[in-house]
Amino acid sequence: MTIVHLRRARTSLVLDARGAGLPRVVHWGADLGPVPADDLPALVDATVPPVAPSSFDAPTVLSLLPEAGAGWSGRPALSGHRDGTAWSTAFRLDDLVVEDTAGRSARVTVLARDPDARLSLAVEIELDPAGLLLLRHRLRNDGDGPYALRELTPVLPVPAVATELLDLTGRWCRERSPQRHPFATGTWVREGRHGRTGHDATLLLVAGTAGFGFGHGEVWAVHTAWSGDHVTFAERRPTGDSTLGGGELLAPGEVALAPGGEYATPLLYAGFSDTGLDGLSHVLHTHLRARPHHPSTPRPVTLNVWEAVYFDHDPARLAALADHAAEVGVERFVLDDGWFSGRRHDRAGLGDWFVDTDVWPDGLHPLIDHVTGHGLQFGLWVEPEMVNPDSDVFRAHPDWVLSVPGRLPPQWRHQQVLDVAHPDAYAYLLGRLDALLTEYPGIGYLKWDHNRDLTEAGHHGRPGVHEQTLAVYRLLDELRVRHPGVEIESCASGGGRVDLEILRRTDRVWASDCNDALERLAIQRWTGLLLPPELVGTHIGPERSHTTHRVHDLGFRASTALFGHHGIEWDIGAIGAAERRELAAWVALHKRLRPLLHSGRVVRVDHPDPAVWAHGVVAHDGSRAVYAVARLATSVAQVPGPVRLPGLDPRRRYAVRPAAGVPEPAVQQVTEPGWGSRTTLGGAVLASVGLQMPALHPEQTLLLEVDAVD
Ligand code: DGJ
Repeated sequence: MTIVHLRRARTSLVLDARGAGLPRVVHWGADLGPVPADDLPALVDATVPPVAPSSFDAPTVLSLLPEAGAGWSGRPALSGHRDGTAWSTAFRLDDLVVEDTAGRSARVTVLARDPDARLSLAVEIELDPAGLLLLRHRLRNDGDGPYALRELTPVLPVPAVATELLDLTGRWCRERSPQRHPFATGTWVREGRHGRTGHDATLLLVAGTAGFGFGHGEVWAVHTAWSGDHVTFAERRPTGDSTLGGGELLAPGEVALAPGGEYATPLLYAGFSDTGLDGLSHVLHTHLRARPHHPSTPRPVTLNVWEAVYFDHDPARLAALADHAAEVGVERFVLDDGWFSGRRHDRAGLGDWFVDTDVWPDGLHPLIDHVTGHGLQFGLWVEPEMVNPDSDVFRAHPDWVLSVPGRLPPQWRHQQVLDVAHPDAYAYLLGRLDALLTEYPGIGYLKWDHNRDLTEAGHHGRPGVHEQTLAVYRLLDELRVRHPGVEIESCASGGGRVDLEILRRTDRVWASDCNDALERLAIQRWTGLLLPPELVGTHIGPERSHTTHRVHDLGFRASTALFGHHGIEWDIGAIGAAERRELAAWVALHKRLRPLLHSGRVVRVDHPDPAVWAHGVVAHDGSRAVYAVARLATSVAQVPGPVRLPGLDPRRRYAVRPAAGVPEPAVQQVTEPGWGSRTTLGGAVLASVGLQMPALHPEQTLLLEVDAVD
């Protein structure tokens, strides 16, 4: 039909749709500028490889859905069959619709059919104004019998210059650990079979040029937006082709398309940057911030009571905690786990979503009134998908639990998973949550938790994760329609459900149950690769971290928690008045910097000394910035070298000073650096020469405020 060239921001996408089969992705990467239409065939030809000896007689074509019939011998993008037939396809292009209006997303819809396999395929491509690519396949069964689908995954080519991979793994309290390796021949597959996104989910799988960093290199990355079992992979073939892809992981028999039935893949988000990982985050953050439902009000400073009281719900103590919260400037008070029937510990009560009248004889009204009387918003913890076997709902409806016939899955935190796709279980959950939000209109926020993996998650005898994931999305969507003002946090034992599909219906994620500031620096840095700070919950925990036993002073904890949706998770009734005053100063600093932190461009510094980490947020108009320079440990070198402050306008001059109103970090030095602690310098100097930093003690952070003076 034609050759399509789409351009947005710094990204180009070129599709060759002239053949009879599915279009080929000729280029996804750097903006090519306005290529004249007459040059496009030459551009395509420039990318066609020679035919090598001992290979197919014509060059193989990596289409939008690589097929064996077109010579693709890599990981199949479509796998399925019709009782042993229709296991290989040869889609024919039916139609290609291009919408390319300046200032909006460019969209391409590709319609194709394989009459022999009796399948139809629609490929939906969107290149958004930030340059982010969104891809989805829809497959329809045109036959008169079922089609068993094993896998359908969008893939994209990446060029041979991408020789290194970066992805993330993790576990409870150590989410988002980076792993870096050569992009060697073979397939690097990251699979999540947790029935939720998973603590180990790689938020992004990045392929890049040798040595790429935060501020340099070309990078291509994909994110599989799905909150159930999923796969994300990078593949390099001996043929010279390299691809990135991702989709849903289906269990045997999980999706059988009835005649006329359709399956839609999760969205694959794909970002490119020629300015390293910070450029990639910029594309993603810009996309997320442009969503109509992206939080637009100031993110309320939160006090969550979990690490303050755990299950020890004493209304008088909680009311006193709310008083202290108001005193230090908190704006949202969240009552965590433990408020409902029988929930005095984690072994009972889950699923019985009625206020426990033994603990709360007058319901939650007195506490909600007390909290809202202070002008704070009230939030409530729920974990709708879960039940304790020791609960009324489980006793009454053991058949509502996801399981295989005859046995229950092994327990995890003494709980099982409700089959949300079971219409009665769904109706119960919707009814209870709706009733709570209706009875208590003061609830403005739900912390929606999910504290176990799905294991042997059978639904009517068949694998149930796919249906469960869709049912949970429906439940969230319905609640949001009924209670549009209520915000929702996605939590799953910390960062176990962080993905862009859950974030279409939630307002922030809980990055980790680890509030240790040292661990959090890494967790937040890598979570922030995908998400802008305002979507990531970051709390100041107790002096001694409950999950690592490490001790940090308030400055280190607060300066770490500053760079997100800020909050406190600490019994601030048990600390002294002086410490509460310091805490109030940190909260005030966050509020003052919040408009910048929650809208600006995130930068991370490629500093050569691994003991020194620096990151910041720069206003888009270059007028101001805030940077944090953290000393993680002692350094091998006496002085770790100047820290560069990237992202400022190179033509403007800036006043640099320590953040005002909060104590400065602890240092061990005989004299200050030559610039003292205040200076005025050009943006180009700050980015290229940088500043020698004071000799910070380990686990100390210096915060710098930077304001343009001209
Ligand atoms: C796990 C969450 O991540 C914690 O913050 C807390 O809400 C507990 N669950 C409560 O059970």
